[in-house]
Amino acid sequence: MAIFFDDPVQVLTQRFEAAIRAAFPAVSGAVEALISPSRQPQFGDFQCNAAMSLAKVVGGKPRDVASAIVAKVDLSDIAEPLSEKSIAGPGFINIVLRGDALASGVVGMDAGTGLAALGVVPASKVETVVVDLCGVNLAKQMHVGHLRSTVIPDAIARVLERLGHKVIRQSHLGDWGLPIAMVTGKLMEELNAGRIKPEALTLDRLEVMYREAQAECERDMKGMEAVRRYGLGPKAEAELEAQVSWATENFTRAKGVLLKLQSHDKATVAVWQLIYDITMRACIETVTRLHANVTLEHTAGESTYSEELAPLVRDLLDRKVAEVDQGAVVVRVPGLEVPCLIRKSDGGFLYATTDMAAIRRRVQKLGASRVIYGVDIRQSLHFQQAFGAAIKAGYARLPDGSDAKLEHAAFGTVLGNDGRPFKTRSGDNVKLWDLLDEAVNRARAAVNERSSGFSEEERGKIAEAVGIAAIKYVDLSSERSKDYVFDFDRMLAFEGNTGPYLLYALVRTRSIFRKAAEEKLDGGWRDAAIVIKEPAEKALALTLLRYGKVLESVAQSTEPHRLCVYLFELATAFSAFFDQCKVLFAPDEATRRSRLRLCDITGRVLADGLGTLGIPTVERM
Ligand code: ARG
Repeated sequence: MAIFFDDPVQVLTQRFEAAIRAAFPAVSGAVEALISPSRQPQFGDFQCNAAMSLAKVVGGKPRDVASAIVAKVDLSDIAEPLSEKSIAGPGFINIVLRGDALASGVVGMDAGTGLAALGVVPASKVETVVVDLCGVNLAKQMHVGHLRSTVIPDAIARVLERLGHKVIRQSHLGDWGLPIAMVTGKLMEELNAGRIKPEALTLDRLEVMYREAQAECERDMKGMEAVRRYGLGPKAEAELEAQVSWATENFTRAKGVLLKLQSHDKATVAVWQLIYDITMRACIETVTRLHANVTLEHTAGESTYSEELAPLVRDLLDRKVAEVDQGAVVVRVPGLEVPCLIRKSDGGFLYATTDMAAIRRRVQKLGASRVIYGVDIRQSLHFQQAFGAAIKAGYARLPDGSDAKLEHAAFGTVLGNDGRPFKTRSGDNVKLWDLLDEAVNRARAAVNERSSGFSEEERGKIAEAVGIAAIKYVDLSSERSKDYVFDFDRMLAFEGNTGPYLLYALVRTRSIFRKAAEEKLDGGWRDAAIVIKEPAEKALALTLLRYGKVLESVAQSTEPHRLCVYLFELATAFSAFFDQCKVLFAPDEATRRSRLRLCDITGRVLADGLGTLGIPTVERM
């Protein structure tokens, strides 16, 4: 029996490269088989396009070069015999794979268990990978941007885990620094004045306070300048001076609060902790609803690095990695015009200082050889600076002397219909929770229509899964570094590359077995011989066989949309198979069993793939 466990492109590439070497022994260096899937069925399943470029190297007509390759290539176990008729046009070699080879490949997919299930090849070298995700900020609601910062890196983490890597999730919580001190100070006043009861405090209220505190510390320097420049008179000048001195006072007070936080002042820390708890409760509630694997244990906020920052800067100055520049401390990063600022001239530390400490902890303490940041693309420069500075400092150095891979899995912006960042009509950020509610409500309407046979409770569950799947899937299936327009109608459609369509495809692979049981036709398929004859069966088998490679490409590229594209192609191939090949009423028993088994494997790949993306699924809908 033919052995065809791996993906066809790889096997064909090996075979053709061997043939090219045998046919043209004089060609030194790399030869490329240039195997690609054929675009039209009359050109077979795959093509080898090597003859054209090879002819330029060895001389002669491409068609003759193709003939020479055909004479040498051995595909007898996997493809229909090649002949002169297999050569098309200037020298394309058309390859038709044998059904039995594909069948044995699919059976092989079904033989693996655990991580090796479904044709997945577990990583031969297991890496410890830190995945930076979620990263919410204290006293702020999760908004639509956190959909991306949660869902994308969680999917990347799941893919790495699926391949057997050790993943450590880290949520780099924005829980430190002056803005946090401002809101802490403000809340303290409100509590002390009895205007707020701690148990009645909500994240909404905190967010308002956060904004107020910021505004209160904002000195109107522009206004001041205008007053002076245009000579607006002593009254206006006095008013603005008052504003500036009031804001300066507030600012100074916030700095005092920060100092108290830094010195672990009990009363101040207690208020900070209250803000922390309220923020995290809401955050965990949201990520749980999102089916994202983010828990309190994954939280490693900026505050956890605060005591490391002063020694870190000192270390860098001592080792001359950093230098003083006009009172500030900077690290110059080779290849970057803007240096990385790690201490301001007023002594304050920065976002980049904390990220350098985080890299050091992740590589030196947590043992990561790869760190992946699922963060907004607008922070690209920040990460170039922090990565470059950390590497220069040796913080990313591994025991073998190489540096850990630091990767920014950058994502674009979610846009509204007007093509601008998605906001509410009043210009505020859209709360993530409200978006989830709306998706689920809309899904509910669709489910009521389609699944009227189910109980109220069941429909509620289906709608929750469909709504969440729709929102997550649209985010994951968009090319991550690009912006996309948020559109409920599109993401909730049951046709096209959408979450609901994939859930529906999965349900179809399952419902056939319920029907089979009703008709008493469900025996004997589990170990049935798989027969691949019809074009739709062949297309389905070819798609199934690509699963493991797709996961590898996501792990390597950190691009979950590749898995989405694949699952959509699989669902489409399945749908064509289902339309064109009778399953329960197949012409004979053997074909029925083979097709049932194909349905089962397809269903399991869809479920495995959706699970690996973190998309919730349903058994029926
Ligand atoms: N809290 C940050 C923000 O809202 C995101 C943190 C990203 N992670 C990091 N290691 N810098 O922008």
